[in-house]
Amino acid sequence: MHGSNLGTLLRTCDAVGACLAVPRLPWVPEALARGNTLRHRTCVHHTGDPIRWLAKQRADGVRVIGVELADEAIRLADLPAARVPTVAVLGHERTGIPPEALDLLDAVVEIPMVGHGMSLNVAVAGSLVLYKLAGLL
Ligand SMILES: C[S@@+](CC[C@H](N)C(=O)[O-])C[C@H]1O[C@@H](n2cnc3c(N)ncnc32)[C@H](O)[C@@H]1O
Repeated sequence: MHGSNLGTLLRTCDAVGACLAVPRLPWVPEALARGNTLRHRTCVHHTGDPIRWLAKQRADGVRVIGVELADEAIRLADLPAARVPTVAVLGHERTGIPPEALDLLDAVVEIPMVGHGMSLNVAVAGSLVLYKLAGLL
């Protein structure tokens, strides 16, 4: 929804050795380009229907981690580095992770907050979790 979030996430993916999976929607290429200053090729997967893609990943043995504030979530500090292929699912900037995707999560991780805001920027939240999953923090 907002400016450079997809491009920012793509730079983080590049930094930690991950790929970014996005739906093939008309606005996605421009959103990817906006925050991305990298000059080399980056790893982007186009998912088609995101829910079906996620279900297939799970069926193939990929671990699926939701990034969301939730009662049952583990805290970021307790998230171990990924030892198996892992997908981190980020929510929509206004509505969060949709219920159909919540049903496909193996675990949820949240980043504790002590300020007055209700949530972090999605690219900030995703970047923190990716660094932890990559074992680089
Ligand atoms: C701006 S937030 C969405 C807020 C939305 N109003 C909601 O209630 O879910 C966008 C996404 O960023 C991620 N996010 C933001 N703050 C987070 C936090 N403190 N812990 C985990 N994920 C967070 C989640 O993936 C969330 O769906």
